[in-house]
Amino acid sequence: MPTDTKRGRKMPSNYFLNLAKTRKTTYEFSDKKVKQSDIKKILEAARWAPSCSNVQPWQFIVVKNKERISELMKTAFYGAFHTNPPIIIAIVLVNECWKDSEHRCDLDSKLGIYEGFLCIGMSALNMILEAQELGIASALLSPHQNIIKTLRGRKGDFIPLMVAFGYEKKKAFQKKRERKELKKLVSGEYFGRKMKL
Ligand SMILES: Cc1cc2nc3c(=O)[nH]c(=O)nc-3n(C[C@H](O)[C@H](O)[C@H](O)COP(=O)(O)O)c2cc1C
Repeated sequence: MPTDTKRGRKMPSNYFLNLAKTRKTTYEFSDKKVKQSDIKKILEAARWAPSCSNVQPWQFIVVKNKERISELMKTAFYGAFHTNPPIIIAIVLVNECWKDSEHRCDLDSKLGIYEGFLCIGMSALNMILEAQELGIASALLSPHQNIIKTLRGRKGDFIPLMVAFGYEKKKAFQKKRERKELKKLVSGEYFGRKMKL
């Protein structure tokens, strides 16, 4: 059994897979607040996410104000959220880290827009998995870009994702969780070649 040396406890060998599988989108949050020390851990996990050329093209806006959260929740493209979360972290793709091109431009070491958006996804995933580890529920939200104005972003900034955190309400609404079968997703050697798993 591997040991988590930081926390001094034994971890089962399927610990991470279990974390990845049990993390889910939460649609109904209770009023319980998230501790500041836990918010810091979630932000630390985001900071340590990998990024293209280690550009770290992100900034994180922590929103706790109820009215602002309510406004932000209205900007999400879709969803079945029954209550607002106690905290939202908006991830900003900062303007000076990306260039108006699809792919990475080596000349001025800026990211292309694809890489920029991919990096934001990496930091978001680190956050929701750290939250899951801490027993904190989460939800990913794709905001309308008028959110930039609400959060006073600058010209050229994007906020591709917001992440909601909190604790799930008892008997909360839950969408059916399902995934495509692994065997239908995996090829061996080239696309479409069946592979024994
Ligand atoms: C990039 C990204 C954006 C998402 N945006 C939204 C959103 O705007 N509203 C929403 O309800 N869910 C959003 N989701 C959550 C997905 O709908 C959800 O992860 C998916 O249905 C699988 O469910 P699960 O998270 O419970 O496993 C987003 C997920 C990702 C990865």
